Amino acid sequence: MSDPSPKPRIAVGADHAGFHVKEAVKRFLHEQGYAIQDVGTDSEASVDYPDFARQVAEKVARGEAELGVLVCGTGMGMAIAANKVPGIRAAVAHDALTARLARQHNDANVLAIGGRVLDEAAALAIVREFLNAQFEGGRHQRRVDKISALETTRPETEQAARSGNH
Ligand code: RB5
Repeated sequence: MSDPSPKPRIAVGADHAGFHVKEAVKRFLHEQGYAIQDVGTDSEASVDYPDFARQVAEKVARGEAELGVLVCGTGMGMAIAANKVPGIRAAVAHDALTARLARQHNDANVLAIGGRVLDEAAALAIVREFLNAQFEGGRHQRRVDKISALETTRPETEQAARSGNH
């Protein structure tokens, strides 16, 4: 019989500011038996974080990985970039509770963390919490569906929004 809940495949990526934490995350994921796809970067030489956010986000969006972990200086640039890819819900977390709630309530499929704001131990605790949490569905599914709908919705004009005429 097949494993009813196989471990998710994880795509990881970082820029120069997140490289050292990405390497620690990779070691942790490897020890835990996760299949890892590393899109780079491979050193602390300066690179542009959107290039790596895009690669991880597109792997998740295409279904080549179930979840992604991105590391830059703060996590912010990675999350902003990854969230431009349809189907991606990237969450910045600097603490374990936020990471857990991002999965439970927001069905986040990408975790963005900051190599300049977290030490390795804190980063690993956040990753562990994110991976161990499950989306709770229910009322949260309705809200996540509304987020997804924004991907194909044109912005209302200011007048329509005010009049409720839509
Ligand atoms: C790179 O210096 C830095 O701007 C980047 O890692 C990230 O923190 C952006 O959000």
